[in-house]
Amino acid sequence: MTIRKFIEDGVESFEAQIDGEAIQWDKGLTYARHLQTGQLLSAQVPVSDKPDEMLFIIMHQTMELWLKLVLHEAKLAIAAVRADDFDAAFKTLDRIATIQRHMIHSWEVLATLTPHDFLTFRGFLRKASGFQSWQYRELEFLLGNKRSDLAIVHSQEPETYAHLMAALAEPSLYDEVLRLLARKGFTIPADHLERDWTQPYEPSDTVEDAWLKIYANPAANWQLYTLGEKITALEYYFQEWRFKHMKTVSRVIGHKPGTGGSSGVNYLQKALSLNFFPELWSMRTRLSAPREGGTYADGA
Ligand code: HEM
Repeated sequence: MTIRKFIEDGVESFEAQIDGEAIQWDKGLTYARHLQTGQLLSAQVPVSDKPDEMLFIIMHQTMELWLKLVLHEAKLAIAAVRADDFDAAFKTLDRIATIQRHMIHSWEVLATLTPHDFLTFRGFLRKASGFQSWQYRELEFLLGNKRSDLAIVHSQEPETYAHLMAALAEPSLYDEVLRLLARKGFTIPADHLERDWTQPYEPSDTVEDAWLKIYANPAANWQLYTLGEKITALEYYFQEWRFKHMKTVSRVIGHKPGTGGSSGVNYLQKALSLNFFPELWSMRTRLSAPREGGTYADGA
């Protein structure tokens, strides 16, 4: 097979006929260099000699990669909301939802790990646990689960800890959405617009009233209504991910305690009642059917 050499943009380049196609590559940016596949594919380092540990490692690593992208997109969504840019916020929230659905489906792969498979290497994991996923915590902080105690497992890693504390101190996606509602003329309590963001969010009847007005008349508030539905979807999928994790864990370890020290499935079940956007859920109970003639219940 002949390889033709040539220079393009000052870079030594090559071409070969493969299957009737003029396939090209160069000495500059290769696939491996761009995607760092050398580094990526040498990062699967089992701590046991058991064959099923590879699945466990790759499942966690792929979830961490998707979490990285969700974090990246969630930061873009926050910036878009801050800039009143609905189109940009919708685009990135739609992408997040698609990634979340993919992450939820991927639990099926881990479900092929039987309790016996896991027990062959569980002891080698010592105290390592998903509880120590700092990306997961950062995402929870960014979405509004402001619980500084959850970061304590990182107190021996000053850089990670400082990173998480910085995320804790920023307004969450929901805080920014409520500020946007206020800019659009809805009544939001002053202590929800400026406060110590490190503290957990306190639900408010006034905020619930604002969402009720928006949901009672979607046509008049289309952008905020759509934003409300897209962040509701984000929370809905987050919960579905949590549920699939909990169910997979119960399938694999039953009610054994976790490697991270918690009660295991019982601990994971508690997290299912967490709400990032509480009034967006509670408002739905109060919402009534639109009246004839286009006016709506609850004064909207
Ligand atoms: C057989 C597989 C798995 C088992 C048996 C398992 C088990 C557990 C248990 C028992 C906990 C509670 C903390 C503890 O005591 O350790 C936990 C937490 C966690 N796991 Fe998993 N897990 C598995 C797979 C995964 C995967 C693939 C991920 C993806 C990143 C993950 C992410 C997490 C996260 C983020 C938490 C913290 C949840 C919270 O604090 O709300 N886990 N896991």
